[in-house]
Amino acid sequence: MSKTLERWGSKRAFILAVTGAAVGLGNIWRFPYVAGENGGAAFLLIYVAFVILLGIPVMMAEILIGRAGRRGPMQALGALAAEAGASRHWRWLGLFGAFTVFCILSFYSVVSGWSIEFLVASINGNFRGASAAEIGAGFDAFLANPGLLIFNHTLFLLMTMVVVAAGVAKGLERLNNLLMPLLYGLLLLLAAYAATTSGFGTALSWLFLPSLEALTPSVVLHAMGHAFFTLAVGACALMAYGAYMPDEQSLPRAAVAVAVLDISVALLAGIAIFSVVFSQGMDPADGPGLMFVTLPIAFSELPWGSLWLSVFFLLLLLATWTSAINLAEPMVATLQGFGWRRSVSTAVVALSVWSIGLLSALSFSTLADFRPLLGRNVFELVSSIPPDIFLPLGGLLIAIFAAWVLPRSAAAAALGVGERGYLCWRNVVRWVSIPLTLMVLLSGLL
Ligand code: PHE
Ligand code: NA
Repeated sequence: MSKTLERWGSKRAFILAVTGAAVGLGNIWRFPYVAGENGGAAFLLIYVAFVILLGIPVMMAEILIGRAGRRGPMQALGALAAEAGASRHWRWLGLFGAFTVFCILSFYSVVSGWSIEFLVASINGNFRGASAAEIGAGFDAFLANPGLLIFNHTLFLLMTMVVVAAGVAKGLERLNNLLMPLLYGLLLLLAAYAATTSGFGTALSWLFLPSLEALTPSVVLHAMGHAFFTLAVGACALMAYGAYMPDEQSLPRAAVAVAVLDISVALLAGIAIFSVVFSQGMDPADGPGLMFVTLPIAFSELPWGSLWLSVFFLLLLLATWTSAINLAEPMVATLQGFGWRRSVSTAVVALSVWSIGLLSALSFSTLADFRPLLGRNVFELVSSIPPDIFLPLGGLLIAIFAAWVLPRSAAAAALGVGERGYLCWRNVVRWVSIPLTLMVLLSGLL
């Protein structure tokens, strides 16, 4: 084995780092609008089931590979495959992961830019006294302004890449220590406010009482994609973090802790957002603007509304930032693995993500009618196909590698829960996670 990487400071630091990658736009922005477009409770039920049956076991597979390999994804996969006597072509899985996060970061950065804009607007008190209709119209006008979208996209990507270039992502674990409790507290407050609104009851039944007719293959596919997306699993991004995991830490416990936190953040956001939707007679299937319109409405009715809203967007922005750093890392690490300098790798990644991101930023104005595939514009394509197809496909290959290719001794040691725990995990991955992912992918594609 080559040089051992520096380890995380503590077990808690590792969990916080993975939480930082997991909790982001996926929970607060993407979950409500995708659930809104896919029937609510039916989607939620399937998505939670997939987090348990696929998300957690495959997250363990992914981190386990990084921990066993103790280096960047491509190198770890290549070296472990060679040791196991398998094909070194497994390393291309690392490259596929880098491609997936590339697509994801290109729209993630644009939407994070919306949070910057909304943070500034709420600090300026722009939502004070505004009616629901005015807030909705303001959002549409914002999306139709390409210059503003590009400016915020650029700003967010710069913020991300400065940290990545400096290679100080590990220093951010302490930020999460503060961030997560604050974000959680604010969401609890919002959910408590939601309980006083007229739409609360409807929101709860819409979120928690599934109707079986709503269960179509496409809902199931979206729910699976979202389970991978929200946990940051399937793109070898967490594999890179596994390389730094302390030796004595139990991986399953860390994975379960992260998944529970991730789901509960999404649920609180969902309750708050759908209470507003139903109180205001809005459409749950309103699309990507759902959170950006509903939460300013909710906060505008609270005392000190602009202050709370500013704090909320600040926390959201920080949560998004730690996720984006995790999205960028595998690409930079891949280029570094080809022998490039870190600064050059970061610059190349930043520039390419920025340019492709422009296509997403312009999808709401100039390029609204540019629909290269399936009748969808670029934003609709990159915000659906990489999460719904690429992540599950990457996760499937990661699971096959960890549960079928890796030698038992190496995998069991990296899982960190003894022989029986290992066999239990391996059975779940071999006989549940892998067949289920394959089935849903095939039925969703056909
Ligand atoms: N999990 C992040 C979110 O929910 C998104 C993400 C996906 C991050 C894949 C890293 C890798 O916002
Ligand atoms: Na998430």
